[in-house]
Amino acid sequence: MTTRRLVLTRSAALLGAASSGLLIPAHAQSNKIRIGLMLPYTGTFAQLGQACDNGFRMALEEKGNKLGGREIEFFKVDDESEPSKGVENANKLVQRDKVDVLIGTVHSGVQMGIHKVARETGVLNIIPNAGMHAATRALCAPNVFRTSFTNSQPTLALGKAMMAKGHKKAVWITWKYAAGDEAGEGFKEGYLAAGGTIVKELGLPFPNVEFQALLTEIASIKPDAVACFFSGGGASKFIRDYAAAGLKGKIPLYGSGFLTEGLLDDELAPSAQGIMTTLHYSTSLATKRNDAFRLAYAKTFKMQPDVYAVQGYDAGQLLLQGAAAVNGDLSNKKALYAAMEAAVIDSPRGKWTMSKAHNPVQDIYLREVKGKENVVLSVAAKALSDSGAGCKLG
Ligand code: BEZ
Repeated sequence: MTTRRLVLTRSAALLGAASSGLLIPAHAQSNKIRIGLMLPYTGTFAQLGQACDNGFRMALEEKGNKLGGREIEFFKVDDESEPSKGVENANKLVQRDKVDVLIGTVHSGVQMGIHKVARETGVLNIIPNAGMHAATRALCAPNVFRTSFTNSQPTLALGKAMMAKGHKKAVWITWKYAAGDEAGEGFKEGYLAAGGTIVKELGLPFPNVEFQALLTEIASIKPDAVACFFSGGGASKFIRDYAAAGLKGKIPLYGSGFLTEGLLDDELAPSAQGIMTTLHYSTSLATKRNDAFRLAYAKTFKMQPDVYAVQGYDAGQLLLQGAAAVNGDLSNKKALYAAMEAAVIDSPRGKWTMSKAHNPVQDIYLREVKGKENVVLSVAAKALSDSGAGCKLG
């Protein structure tokens, strides 16, 4: 057989195999859109990760589990809120599972890993929680969108609310990692601008919950108030320890709303009464949109939603809008990203839009724990946009 005939014969064989689907890689054979969920399903942020997952799936379920007419397929990785495994875990989804879109994550340190992979590979990444500034500031990218907040967004309006109550000297306390430090930046900016003084900044490594020595120090400083960033299981422990240390009722406790979000059960609520926080959502928001969402979520998951569920739900809504604009062809990136940039998200938190840097422009609410609810007292900041400093998009 001549070389030319051999080549032709092989080509014909390949064509035959291809048309019978034998040689096409498994992921290319199916026309399904591959969605990777990289979230913490274990550890102190497990509840947050599961809520993002629930909300995201619920949004897609409401539209028949199709994106721009195409079926979907889920892939899942537990990131354990472990920054050192961030890149490796993101690559499991991007390189191994060949996902078209990566939804993740909760923890800012882990997000750094996802962000590196997203920038290097160009995979579409929608962030349903982690607020690390760089993702939508200096390291912003055309393929990275966030449906949550920047870490300093919720705390920017907190200081003004504290000053309105006459709390002029405050202690700031947090986990020492990007989320806590950047939430502290937002708090500092707002509180100082309102005339307050931060008398001491205290911290401990994530996810450490040995608060006792720090609470003793706060008791000896006797500030007018304490402001903090904690979330998930650690936040619940902080609230209980604060009360047990005798500080509740003596030194008012404030925080970014993650402090009390999704945690107010029968056991914790007595220790949390009166805590005031600022956040872009509350289950107590009295709108038809929120009522309908709460009802549907409770029916599906037999529990109340929280901000993490809303952010996951909005990640789903954003992807649905983008995919619809390109009839499910996510490889049409220019049109896909343009549609996502222009999206108006009809969220349970209130309608919001994307900033040029791909971060929500949204209202921030002042809330107070009453019973088992974060009751909305007022809009602390209207249509608040992050600075997007250093971002060259748009
Ligand atoms: C973060 O690490 O970015 C984060 C985690 C929990 C709540 C809010 C922010």
